[in-house]
Amino acid sequence: MEALTDWATLAAAMAARTPQTRLAHVFGVVETAREMADRFGENRAQAEVAALLHDYAKAMPFAEQLAEARRRNLLIDSTEEVSPVLLHGAVGAALLQEQGLVTDPAVLDAIRWHTTGRVGMSRLEMIIYVADSIEPNRSYPGIEVIREAARRDLVEATLKAADSAIRFVLDSGWLLHVYTIQTRNWLLTL
Ligand SMILES: [Fe+2]
Ligand SMILES: [Fe+2]
Repeated sequence: MEALTDWATLAAAMAARTPQTRLAHVFGVVETAREMADRFGENRAQAEVAALLHDYAKAMPFAEQLAEARRRNLLIDSTEEVSPVLLHGAVGAALLQEQGLVTDPAVLDAIRWHTTGRVGMSRLEMIIYVADSIEPNRSYPGIEVIREAARRDLVEATLKAADSAIRFVLDSGWLLHVYTIQTRNWLLTL
């Protein structure tokens, strides 16, 4: 693991571009990711930094996120042009790297893939994906099933979080990203 920028600098950079109302979510993800890293034997510092910065680009206007993603060839398919909310992970990771705030590729990948997941995602990526969906400020039908799995088994928790995300997207009538489907199918083979 490469050296990480100090926590205070990263927290200040995040707070400067995040509405107060979202910061509670961010620090909830930090808390949950830290607990999960300890429980599953993953690196705590990587989990905390990835959690702190996972929504780094979330507050940017969609048009700006789309422009930044196009400029860097970050688009996977046209789904992301219709649902630009899918882009903030990739855009955030690119900005953090360019601004020299994060150099660790494992942390950048956890940020990049936290919305859709991906086939072959690392255990750190799974922790951020799950922590994002179950942090203490979250509340939705079925969340306790994911929380319960997250106390025992990281792969099972990631699968349950992906299932829940897919159900939510279907119920909302939104486009479903192909990476989420592929991630879910891949998790079933583990
Ligand atoms: Fe996010
Ligand atoms: Fe988030």
